[in-house]
Amino acid sequence: MQARVRTIREQFDREVAGIGDTAALAAARVRFLGRKEGLLTLLLRDLRDLSGAERAAAGREVNALKDHVEFGLAAAAERLAQAPAAATLTPLEASLPGRLVHPGPLHPLSQVRDDIEEIFLEMGFTLEHGPEVETDRYNFAALNIGEHHPARDSQDTFYLENGLLLRTHTSPVQVRAMERRRPPIAMVAIGKVFRRDAFDATHSPVFHQVEGLVVDEGITFAHLKGTLEHFCRRVFEREVTLRLRPSFFPFVEPGAEYDISCIFCSGAGCSRCKGSGWIELGGTGMVHPAVFEQVGYDPARVSGFAFGLGIERIAMLKHGIDDIRLFYENDLRFLGQSFA
Ligand code: PHE
Repeated sequence: MQARVRTIREQFDREVAGIGDTAALAAARVRFLGRKEGLLTLLLRDLRDLSGAERAAAGREVNALKDHVEFGLAAAAERLAQAPAAATLTPLEASLPGRLVHPGPLHPLSQVRDDIEEIFLEMGFTLEHGPEVETDRYNFAALNIGEHHPARDSQDTFYLENGLLLRTHTSPVQVRAMERRRPPIAMVAIGKVFRRDAFDATHSPVFHQVEGLVVDEGITFAHLKGTLEHFCRRVFEREVTLRLRPSFFPFVEPGAEYDISCIFCSGAGCSRCKGSGWIELGGTGMVHPAVFEQVGYDPARVSGFAFGLGIERIAMLKHGIDDIRLFYENDLRFLGQSFA
C-alpha cells in the first residue's frame, strides 16, 4: 500500500508540472480524483481489504496524498489564470483576409459643395454664412421684395413664430455681408433653403443653394458673364457656353436666368434638354440700387452682380442622378459612391 501511494504521488508530481492549459488540468483532476476510476478513489476502495491497524495507517497516507493532489491542482489552476493571455491565444493566421473597413465617404452633396467652394475660393471669393431662420427684412424687404410680392405667399414660405421664417433663398446672406463689410466684396454663401414645395423627383422642401455676390467700383455685366461661364466650365469640366435670358428678380436690375449648352448633347438637342440644346441653371443680375440703399452703399459709386445656383441641380446634372429624393433617403448603396 505504501509503495502504491508513493508511485501515485510521484506520477502526480510529474504530471502536474506539465499542465499547460485548462483542458489538461481537467483531465488530470479526473485521472487522480475521478469518482469512478480516479487513482485515489481506487486506492481508498482497496483500503476496505486491509485489517484494522493497517487500514488506519494506510488511510492517513491516502488522505495525505489526497490533500497533496488537491493542493497541487489548485496551484496549477492559479498558475494558468495568471499566465499572460498571449500564451493561451492561438497563433496569428497570416493567410486570413483582413477585416473589411468601411470608410464613410462624404455625402454626394457635400462632395459637390466642396468642389464649388474650391472653384470660387480659387477665384478669390470669400465664404460667408447666414442663419437658416431669417427675418422678413433680410429674406424679403431689404431685397426689394415688396409686401405684396407673391414670393412671400405662405404657400412658398414656412413662417415661424414672432415674424421669423425659414429662408427661402440664400440671398439674405448678400444683405448681411454688405452690412458687415465694405466693398470690394467677392463672396459666396452656401446653405440650406426652405420652400413649401412638393416632395417629388425634382422638388424638395429643403435644398441647397450657392449665392454669389461681387461689389466694387466699375463692376459690369461682362464681369458677371465671365465669372459664371468660367465657373460652369470648371464645375462641369467641359467647354460649355453660357446663355443669359432676360428675367425678373426684385433685387437685381437687369435680371436674367442663365443656361448652359446641354452637357449631354453639346447643344444638339436631346431628351435631357427637352430638345432645346440648353439647360437652365439659375438666376442672376446686377444688384438693384434699392438693395445698395438698404445697406448704406452709394449706387452711384459702386455696382455689383449676384447669382444663385442649386447644389442638387449641379450634382444631378454632373452625375446623371434623376431623382432628387436619393440625396435625402440615406440608401447606403447610393451614399457609398464617390462622386469625385
Ligand atoms: N435668390 C434667387 C432664387 O432663389 C436666385 C437669384 C440670386 C437671382 C441672385 C438673382 C440673383 O430664385
